[in-house]
Amino acid sequence: MSASARQYRPETRLVHSGTLRSQYGETSEAIFLTQGFVYDNAEQCEARFIGTEPGFLYSRYSNPTVAMFERRIAEFEGAETARATASGMAAVTTALVGLVRAGDHVVAAKALFGSCRWVIEDFLPRFGVASTLVDGLDLDQWRKAVRPNTKVFFLESPTNPTLDVLDIGAIAEIAHAAGAKLVVDNVFATPIFQSPLALGADCVVYSATKHIDGQGRCLGGVILAAEKFIQDNYHTFLRQTGPSMSPFNAWVLLKGLETLHLRVRRQTETAAFVADALARHGKITRLVYPGRADHPQAATVKKQMRGGSTLVCFEVAGGKAATFRFLNALELVRITNNLGDAKSLVTHPATTTHQRLTPEARAELGITDGVVRFSAGLEHPDDIIADLTAALGKV
Ligand SMILES: Cc1ncc(COP(=O)(O)O)c(C=O)c1O
Repeated sequence: MSASARQYRPETRLVHSGTLRSQYGETSEAIFLTQGFVYDNAEQCEARFIGTEPGFLYSRYSNPTVAMFERRIAEFEGAETARATASGMAAVTTALVGLVRAGDHVVAAKALFGSCRWVIEDFLPRFGVASTLVDGLDLDQWRKAVRPNTKVFFLESPTNPTLDVLDIGAIAEIAHAAGAKLVVDNVFATPIFQSPLALGADCVVYSATKHIDGQGRCLGGVILAAEKFIQDNYHTFLRQTGPSMSPFNAWVLLKGLETLHLRVRRQTETAAFVADALARHGKITRLVYPGRADHPQAATVKKQMRGGSTLVCFEVAGGKAATFRFLNALELVRITNNLGDAKSLVTHPATTTHQRLTPEARAELGITDGVVRFSAGLEHPDDIIADLTAALGKV
């Protein structure tokens, strides 16, 4: 198969797109664990640096294994170009920093992963970039937050951890009318269930650490957009500052892409079973799952997503003490702050991912002391439900 596989169906592209075979004709892609590259002669070296001859120069800029990962995810996402980064936060930070200068303004939904919110609220202002946080569900708040110097809108959907679903198409329209660009963190939806670029976003970012690896091994991130957008805003920043993905991680993540659709579909089925089982449980006071008809934004889910989620958000009755009793009673499902793993995981956002926020800011986002984020793994769903319900019995 040629390196370009756009004509094939999505599952086929996840297995084949971007493959660069070496002279040995290997079946599985090679790991090019090299910092640099050698040239046949000084003229060739000069031509590579000028850019008149294509080829690799240095692994901070690009590397064959990283390039395979970038091509494969770009073709699956339907993006012209992808750039891999060392972590999801490197991707988010680059995607934002590359679009602003001192004196600019960013608007973001307040329901964000804690580190993303820190970048917007605390880090960008250090460099003279102001920010406004809005309730992402309220389109009027996005409109009213716009200033003459607004350059970027940023959101994640479904949100972490409360799984609200924001209307990406409508928010993209507001951004573009204001002359701003929309960056979407698509980690929770995964590329299997949501395509922000097709909905109007200018740039998509992932923590590849999550479902793309899917087995809890490597950190990674990726930025996807049109070629010109990447060239104009990120190319030089990435090359000169160096948040590069390691070739080894790129290889793990490349192989992760091959099974992404199988894992995410299975985990989503399991999450839906868990959501249905817990929604009826007497110790659960609130449950949000994008695949259920009672999801608060069910119409938006239907409009912009191709499936539910591998995550379920629920609230245990009785506050922090009761919730900790539940978490501590789990035997199969493990306590962590991560998600998207083959192993089922639970997170207590109020004391981990969103611990930095004030109690008022958490309350505003619906992150009470009883909120638990569940990430479905690949175990048998009955074993997971048995573990969750047994632990709830001990609350
Ligand atoms: C929504 C979201 N965005 C970004 C990140 C950051 O990714 P990473 O941990 O790979 O830096 C995470 C998770 O940690 C996340 O959940």
